[in-house]
Amino acid sequence: MPSHRIFNFSAGPACLPESVLEQAKKDIWNIDDSGIGILEHSHRGKAFDKITHDTEALCRQVGNIPDNHSVFWMQGGATSQCYMVPANFLAEGQTADYFQTGKWANDSIKEVPLYGHCHIAGSSKATNYDRIPAPADIKNSANPVYVQFTSNNTIVGTEWKGEPQNIPAGAFLVSDASSNIFSRPIDVTRYGLIYAGAQKNLGPSGITLLIARKDVLELAPRPLPEMVKYKNHAEKEGRFNTPNTFGVYLMGEVFKWILAEGGLKAMEERNREKAMLVYDFIDSQDFYKPHAQTDSRSMMNITFKCPTPELDDLFTEEADKKGLSGLTGHRITAGMRASMYNAFPKAGAQALVDFMKDFARQHAATAKA
Ligand SMILES: Cc1ncc(COP(=O)(O)O)c(C=O)c1O
Repeated sequence: MPSHRIFNFSAGPACLPESVLEQAKKDIWNIDDSGIGILEHSHRGKAFDKITHDTEALCRQVGNIPDNHSVFWMQGGATSQCYMVPANFLAEGQTADYFQTGKWANDSIKEVPLYGHCHIAGSSKATNYDRIPAPADIKNSANPVYVQFTSNNTIVGTEWKGEPQNIPAGAFLVSDASSNIFSRPIDVTRYGLIYAGAQKNLGPSGITLLIARKDVLELAPRPLPEMVKYKNHAEKEGRFNTPNTFGVYLMGEVFKWILAEGGLKAMEERNREKAMLVYDFIDSQDFYKPHAQTDSRSMMNITFKCPTPELDDLFTEEADKKGLSGLTGHRITAGMRASMYNAFPKAGAQALVDFMKDFARQHAATAKA
């Protein structure tokens, strides 16, 4: 086990800002001079009241979130939202539109028929999810309750540049923003619901951030167990049951870090700079092949392959030895995936490019043989 820190390209849980980790080390022992560490405070006590309210206020500041949206959190991961969304919003016989852009979108699509109709408004399945559907290929249903998309497809490395356009009147947007939340400015007023597992850009796993327009929380298309009603979680400030208290605390610290770094505009510039270092190199040679189409590329997850699967294995093995960890791609794309969320340093992107250059130089002949 190295005692030092290395470049962690993991898709999530992923690297966190070092200053946040340093602060957490202190606060785990004793937070705000209370004589009690953050992991040990009651979720009903005064100290945690303050943490909850601070985290919400900081989130509102980071995302410029107006009062007619609720900000709260839940457990169960982004995966629970696959059924929570249709259960809370879709009555039997009604339709919701979904974009089929990868595994996480498909996980949501699978749950919808339990509650209502699912209409696929656009799909990149035929090309192994290498792109975001082009506007000309998008066909919404006549009267959907909501339109759901995955703003960044973590596994295949594709990302929407903004929101899908021409949403049918009366429908609201739902976004699974797990892997690009707060990586760039976002206009939350365009959404009914945004949800994001925290473990990429916001904090630890085990907590999911939700930003919901208050009127959509009033939809009650069927009787539901109390734990499944969004409204309960929103009204109880994410404390309908015992929350992941450490996760709420750490998200707050990450929000403070985002603000101190210059907010979402600064995050966007840094993320673009890091990603373009790698994409520009990929575009300049023909040893590595990218998975995503150029105009659909993700600024968070970069997917690419060597000329053979054997070289892919060797690449990740040798990269690991050089302190570049977590580069193995998902089996859906095979090859490699470099995840570089907000907290990932630019020096890591440069180290990856340097390693890619060396590796290609050493193995170009093998690849051609
Ligand atoms: C876009 C997206 N949605 C959903 C999930 C599932 O999240 P969880 O494991 O927190 O349920 C992930 C996990 O990586 C993801 O990247």
